[in-house]
Amino acid sequence: MSTPKVITTNSVLPASSSQKPWSHHLTIDTLYRVLQRTLLSPFIAWIVVLCLRAQVTPPTAPAFVGAVIYAIFLSALFVAQTINHRVAHGLPRTVDSDQEVVLITGGASGLGLLIAQSYAMKGGAVAVLDIREFGGIDEQEGILGEGVCYYRCDVGVRKEVEDVKKRVEKELGTPTIIINCAAARINGAALLDLPVDAFEKTVRTNLMAAFHLYQVFLPGIIAKAENGGTIVTISSVLGQLSPAGLTDYSASKAGLSALHRTMESELREHEQIKMLLVETGQMATPLFDWVRTPSHFFAPVLQPVEVAREIVAAIDSGHGGVLRLPAFAKLVNLYAALPGAIQQVARYVSGIDSAVASGNRNDHRAAKKRRVD
Ligand SMILES: NC(=O)c1ccc[n+]([C@@H]2O[C@H](COP(=O)([O-])OP(=O)(O)OC[C@H]3O[C@@H](n4cnc5c(N)ncnc54)[C@H](OP(=O)(O)O)[C@@H]3O)[C@@H](O)[C@H]2O)c1
Repeated sequence: MSTPKVITTNSVLPASSSQKPWSHHLTIDTLYRVLQRTLLSPFIAWIVVLCLRAQVTPPTAPAFVGAVIYAIFLSALFVAQTINHRVAHGLPRTVDSDQEVVLITGGASGLGLLIAQSYAMKGGAVAVLDIREFGGIDEQEGILGEGVCYYRCDVGVRKEVEDVKKRVEKELGTPTIIINCAAARINGAALLDLPVDAFEKTVRTNLMAAFHLYQVFLPGIIAKAENGGTIVTISSVLGQLSPAGLTDYSASKAGLSALHRTMESELREHEQIKMLLVETGQMATPLFDWVRTPSHFFAPVLQPVEVAREIVAAIDSGHGGVLRLPAFAKLVNLYAALPGAIQQVARYVSGIDSAVASGNRNDHRAAKKRRVD
């Protein structure tokens, strides 16, 4: 029997939340979660109505009328949200985790690794496509864990993706859940300092790879998967917020989100194929570990395990849709509608355009070295 799965610190940074002061956990996300479970919950609102009745509050009393109106409002909002989601993304498909063949690009590190391990534990067949070099089979199993099949593949190269498709289909079957998670390392340079090949590499890995992946694997899902399939695109809020110093990354992620949405429109007639777009803020993985979040309160750095849990839950629910976290990420569409001057003030106050420039390059280099080691 093999040893338990170990997630090494060079793949996913440790979540040492217990060592942090209590104030570290006080973020807009914590407040939002508390509100969702209290003041904004229709269930709690109706409990308040029942409590007032139990106290024999007259039905005409302002407190009772107000409580009923508020409870009806929250319930109507909940129903509207459910109908909206149903109309926009259709009925859910049935997901049977131990029958699915899950393919994850960039699954040898960070978020992708956690999702891969999660599906392997559920008993599904899991294929990870990544460029990471392992010292041997023991190191590979120690990092990826039991039940994850590793395929070394540069997803930015069409031929490699086509070759790996044949191997995966032969060894595991037709993938039914495809998760595009690979991302090139961050260059963190201003446009004028960014070498052409660095820009091209980012676009090839973050955007072209999705084109190759979907064009190569999608026909298999459409033709063979009885229960349909789920396509997951891991993009970023930075595709919409475009901070200074991340031209290549932001451009590639904006293109990636657009590619996903276009594909969703094209696949609408295939009701059993669910499209899930994930646009997250900063996570504690090696990718951005040298960049300090501009505001811990408004834009807390997410633990990748929280994000992986949400993604797996969304896939398993059988729904498509858009997953944005943390809380501020849900507002990025509203940000785009703000007048330019207010956007500038928001950028200045949040410090989003100075975060990359003030990131510690030594940490960046150390992080890169840790990943190579
Ligand atoms: N971390 C964040 O703050 C953050 C925020 C928003 C969105 N995201 C997105 O979330 C996803 C996962 O990010 P992460 O933080 O988990 O990153 P990560 O830890 O760096 O994992 C990305 C993996 O992709 C691999 N990769 C790079 N180029 C590849 C290629 N051409 N073919 C195959 N694999 C390749 C990387 O290998 P190497 O290590 O050798 O390069 C690495 O193993 C990415 O799409 C990222 O853009 C991340």
